[in-house]
Amino acid sequence: PRQQFIQRLMKQMTLDEKIGQLNLLTSDMDVTGPFMKEDYKKEIASGLCGAIFNAYTPRYTRQLQEIAMKTRLKIPLLFGYDVIHGHKTIFPIPLGEACTWDMALLEKSARIAAEEASADGLHWTFSPMVDIARDPRWGRVAEGVGEDTWYGVQVAKAKVKGYQGTDLSANNTILACVKHFALYGAVEAGRDYNTVDMSRHQMFEVYMPPYKAAIDAGVATVMTAFNEVDGIPATGNRWLLTDLLRKQWGFKGFVVTDYTSMNEMIPHGVAKNEYEAGGLAMNAGVDMDMQGSIYVTQLKQLLQDKKITLQQIDAAVYRVLEAKYNLGLFSDPFRYCDTTRAQQVILSAAHLQAAREIAQRSIVLLKNEGQLLPLKKQGTIAVIGPLADSKRDMIGNWSAAGDAARAVTLLEGIKNKLGQGATVLYAPGGHITTDANLLSKAWQQPQLKQSDTANSAQMLATALEQAKKADIVVMALGESQGMTGEAASRSDISIPPGQRSLLKAIMATGKPVVLVLMNGRPLTLEWENEHVPAILETWFLGTTAGDAIADVLFGDYNPSGKITMTFSRNVGQIPIYYNYKNTGRPLDPNNKYSSKYLDVSNEPLFPFGFGLSYTRFTYSPVSLDKKQLSSTSKLRIMVKVANEGNYDGEEVVQLYIRDHQGSITRPVKELKGFKKIFLKKGESRDIVFELGAADLKFYDKELHWTTEPGSFTVFVGTNSRDVQSADFTLQ
Ligand code: IFM
Repeated sequence: PRQQFIQRLMKQMTLDEKIGQLNLLTSDMDVTGPFMKEDYKKEIASGLCGAIFNAYTPRYTRQLQEIAMKTRLKIPLLFGYDVIHGHKTIFPIPLGEACTWDMALLEKSARIAAEEASADGLHWTFSPMVDIARDPRWGRVAEGVGEDTWYGVQVAKAKVKGYQGTDLSANNTILACVKHFALYGAVEAGRDYNTVDMSRHQMFEVYMPPYKAAIDAGVATVMTAFNEVDGIPATGNRWLLTDLLRKQWGFKGFVVTDYTSMNEMIPHGVAKNEYEAGGLAMNAGVDMDMQGSIYVTQLKQLLQDKKITLQQIDAAVYRVLEAKYNLGLFSDPFRYCDTTRAQQVILSAAHLQAAREIAQRSIVLLKNEGQLLPLKKQGTIAVIGPLADSKRDMIGNWSAAGDAARAVTLLEGIKNKLGQGATVLYAPGGHITTDANLLSKAWQQPQLKQSDTANSAQMLATALEQAKKADIVVMALGESQGMTGEAASRSDISIPPGQRSLLKAIMATGKPVVLVLMNGRPLTLEWENEHVPAILETWFLGTTAGDAIADVLFGDYNPSGKITMTFSRNVGQIPIYYNYKNTGRPLDPNNKYSSKYLDVSNEPLFPFGFGLSYTRFTYSPVSLDKKQLSSTSKLRIMVKVANEGNYDGEEVVQLYIRDHQGSITRPVKELKGFKKIFLKKGESRDIVFELGAADLKFYDKELHWTTEPGSFTVFVGTNSRDVQSADFTLQ
């Protein structure tokens, strides 16, 4: 019936109406790029727009849908939006949430986001972003899950499942959109929108698998990337969008451009004008044009000139109508516009509770000298720093519909926790940054106004006074939310100098200091790590941030987060990642002519998978049930993990392998599994992993996914550096 319905509808459609279905326009409610089409309501009324983004609430989407219902064929609009880490209940930024290593929770936050978004009139989220990223200068690392391919694959699956559920026709599920296809995470020098160039081997081995995993999980839509792939912009790349995505991977949904990326093929230098850009995109396999209005202005002429065919247009239109049909919009275009449901679902107590649990588990304890943490719920605590009471920063970047007013700041969270039991003092101590460049370029930052920077000396003096009165100082430092995310690359990824001076001044009082970091990327923290006794990485944790941080600070939740992106010592080490290649001259401290720097070690500050706990987990040596693995058998890898500290806690037990020789060089370590376990103090558990030959596959030089016999090492440990190992061979 679906096919018949759509075919019947398409028979009635004029060419203009068909092309209109391929046109996605932003409303003026919220804009995420250059605003091009102010008369979007007129376009809807004339049937020249099939989808709208940046419009939500049952009232507003109903209003726009009503316009569509007055058109000749009454084809419903599709409403899309960047629901990236929650809709109204905001969860940690994806890079933070990834630190939970808990796929059920990652699926749950996507499920809740879909519940809320669908109740708020939306049908489609531009998420998950699964771009592997190894360069923290790139502001968009905040929106992905870091550097590891295997981990990225698991998250891609969980997110698609969370958003789409098992039945898209249920009115609490939404279409997911995997992005940015492809390779956007590899922009040169971490500069957003920059060029990408890489070998096919690296592409398939490192960058492609998470997109592919989303396709295999049934993701409904794919967004193209701004960058080029093999010299051709992704939006005009036929190999990418047709040969690989459709023919090889069997993708059946529709492809949408990123914002005006079709038009950007002109400055890229592959199209002379919009006419050529439209032809390139249609011939590559793009179905829907986001905000560029090229399809509506150029497709007809391109068809007349036989640069494209009607079959191509029809195929694209079919896919878009099919998505609308799958959502049930043809039976009831207003089924997502229910004000009562919105009131019941959005920001419900259960959603806020889930957000707090996920936020607690996203926090990473980077350092805890002398067991300074957890803190006692008594005495005088000074809360200092420009991020300590900043609601907007708590919900982070891409918290599009998030309501900053609902966010709990660190100061509020500590006060909520301690009530009258302790004295809480507060001083911002300074500004997030006073750097004129950042001030002018990091737009969307209410904190960063030139006029704010005048009274810095007075702010510092007040902070020092408060610190001197306190037993302990908790400092909230890092980046504003606008210093990370899209169009927010930084070449210096340290804590801005003004904040570091504040930290130094407070440290000089001799009071014990706990540094609570808030930021969207791994920062360079050598000085802080050397001097500050306790450091908590809290990212931007979302609506319940302050409560979750207070839970960890005061020991009501024992931190278990593990970073999924390496923290470098300085910018010069970037790109840095745990699964590097050995090279022909691996590091040898006694050999000048080995691969190293003169001025910094090869080791990162905090390795992939790192994160401490208030308790102490110990690992027994690793044992294997066999030394030789055949192509049909399974290798059992066993280790005993014990909680020998004073707190109950969760641990992420990580499994890595190394393939010692291959026809293609292999990384020194590759994540192949993990188990997140809870152990009461004094408890221990036998952990068993299983690996089969299929887990040892890689792309050979013909890009065949294959296994090669040879010697391997398996590593098990608490992070990618601190591991136990055992050897085996694959026959
Ligand atoms: O979804 C985003 C994309 O990630 C970046 N450009 C704008 C799109 C829509 O807002």
